[in-house]
Amino acid sequence: MKFDIITIFPEMFDGLLSAGVIKKAVGKGLLEIGLHDLRDYTTDKHCQVDDRPYGGLEGMVLKPEPIFRAVEAIRQPEKSITCLLTPQGKPLNSRLAERLAGFQQVVLICGRYEGVDERIIEYLIDQEISIGDYVLTGGELAAAVVVEAVARFIPGVVGREESVRHDSFVSGLLDFPQYTRPREFRGYRVPEVLFSGDHKKIASWRLKKALEKTLARRPDLLESRQLTSEEEEILEEIKSERKES
Ligand code: ADE
Repeated sequence: MKFDIITIFPEMFDGLLSAGVIKKAVGKGLLEIGLHDLRDYTTDKHCQVDDRPYGGLEGMVLKPEPIFRAVEAIRQPEKSITCLLTPQGKPLNSRLAERLAGFQQVVLICGRYEGVDERIIEYLIDQEISIGDYVLTGGELAAAVVVEAVARFIPGVVGREESVRHDSFVSGLLDFPQYTRPREFRGYRVPEVLFSGDHKKIASWRLKKALEKTLARRPDLLESRQLTSEEEEILEEIKSERKES
């Protein structure tokens, strides 16, 4: 699949493209990333992308013409979605990331300044996306987050498909704790169960730890999830242990 990112700061994506999983995915041809400087789609000699808001207010608003021209030049006719990064958007989650991974092309428009002309949202954008309830100075870092989150769902991008399926939010639970060598570090020991060789017991311990953490930190995730009978049972156990202590 291809991301086409429209921004006034293409250089902000250098980091995303120069290391790690995304660089590898691009190298393997699993992912393409096109960077488009919004100023290349202006027609005036000052390459103006913004203007003052009608009605009078502080700050500047991104103009419609360059963004319409850019999207119309870049957008492919099939299986394409055009998204705007904005704090007003739909909160990004694993489900939305997986849905975006199903498109052949995702056009990401990085908002800036005090916002964008509303006609862009009304007539050009399919999906507004927010990465959280805070305001960044622009949508560039948010677009990089979307690329990372979506890329994990493209087959072959993450080494083992298994690891994606076990990810927090894909499984609907927070992660269980992980340990590696040494077995004892400064007197802190790795839980004995992990050396038992009993895979069923280990899986059940991991599930309990994941449920404990999810119950303590994100009980909302448990409410929006259909629990298996094993999970129900372990959850009851955790709750009664809590009552006792
Ligand atoms: N642009 C500015 N803040 C943002 C946010 N929280 N999410 C997406 N785009 C943004």
